[in-house]
Amino acid sequence: MTIRTLDDLLAEEVTGRRVLVRADLNVPLDKQTGQITDDGRIRAVLPTLGALVQAGAKVVVCSHLGRPKGSPDPAFSLRPVAGRLGELLGAPVHFAEDTVGDSARSTVAGLADGQVALLENLRFNPGETSKDEAQRGAFADQLAALADAYVDDAFGAVHRRHASVYDVPARLPHVAGRLVLREVEVLGTLTGEPDRPYVVVLGGSKVSDKLAVIEALLPKVDRLLVGGGMCFTFLKAQGHEVGSSLLEEEMVETCRSLLERAGGKIMLPVDVVAADAFAPDAPHDTVRADGIPSKRVGLDIGPETVAGFAAALRGARTIFWNGPMGVFEMAAFAHGTRGVAEAIANADAFTVVGGGDSAAAVRALGLDEQAFSHISTGGGASLEYLEGKTLPGIAALEN
Ligand code: 3PG
Ligand code: MG
Repeated sequence: MTIRTLDDLLAEEVTGRRVLVRADLNVPLDKQTGQITDDGRIRAVLPTLGALVQAGAKVVVCSHLGRPKGSPDPAFSLRPVAGRLGELLGAPVHFAEDTVGDSARSTVAGLADGQVALLENLRFNPGETSKDEAQRGAFADQLAALADAYVDDAFGAVHRRHASVYDVPARLPHVAGRLVLREVEVLGTLTGEPDRPYVVVLGGSKVSDKLAVIEALLPKVDRLLVGGGMCFTFLKAQGHEVGSSLLEEEMVETCRSLLERAGGKIMLPVDVVAADAFAPDAPHDTVRADGIPSKRVGLDIGPETVAGFAAALRGARTIFWNGPMGVFEMAAFAHGTRGVAEAIANADAFTVVGGGDSAAAVRALGLDEQAFSHISTGGGASLEYLEGKTLPGIAALEN
């Protein structure tokens, strides 16, 4: 099984051909202003788009944004993304008001060689995410009709069995874009024989989201550091009071058994920043992780924990990090995420940051992206890759 690449497609001569690029332009938007708050995913697809533009292709970009329910919803329009993409490419991006309708067809028909169009949100169409093969297939037919070849550069969506990811490549000559290739190459080194010690840092809110990856990684890693909202379910499993911190009651037993099986590999916080409320200006202080006062909510890992995690990271040769250590969007609760991110950046190791939130945290905290070996654009996708699952979007490229 080999995956054909963008270079293979370029070698075939794409001048004047319509090339559909599935990108993951699912960027975070400010709830009030609708402005793009982090354009990392747009920048990540520029190498692929730039190469196609240079080669004179008619480039038709498609993506999802958020989770609209299968019909148009202005709050999830890709229009602002078209604007930003145009700025970054240094040339206007023609925006289609729909995904496969009249506007899409006329926009694509009007493209000159080397021009770029962006279609409206794929998920405005029920066929995109449908579980029904026929409905998905019918939508894929319409998308495929807009192009002569297909490039998947949407790494963040390769774990989705969606029309634009899974069914369109069955209908068009298909290749992997530069971003997808790089992601697969990097994550492949983590699933192979990584240099040791191999330390994984997991955060984010839910244990249930991370359970499969914890199970898959435990036998492979030397250390698993757990912070973020999910740490409280582990602390509860150790018999500690967690106050009104985030808790997945139904996962407590599972966490207990994971801790037993981990044989000391799992490192939990020893102190946490506990606040009176979930608010940026809530009164707060650092408390022992085994004694969170009953009315308080843990919103970050404490300084002693950061120091302990940093010490574990200092000696590592391979590091994978997914999920913030606390509510980093609020300055008072960003110290844990910053401290761990800095320790990873300073480690003499192959360092991979996975996940939209952790990648956004790196940039929001003003850390140097270059200090990390690789910042993945995929959250769920990178975790499922590390779990060893078959990713529909990758499998579709292999056929
Ligand atoms: C992401 O943000 O994780 C990807 O864009 C996939 O989005 P989804 O989880 O809504 O499918
Ligand atoms: Mg996601």
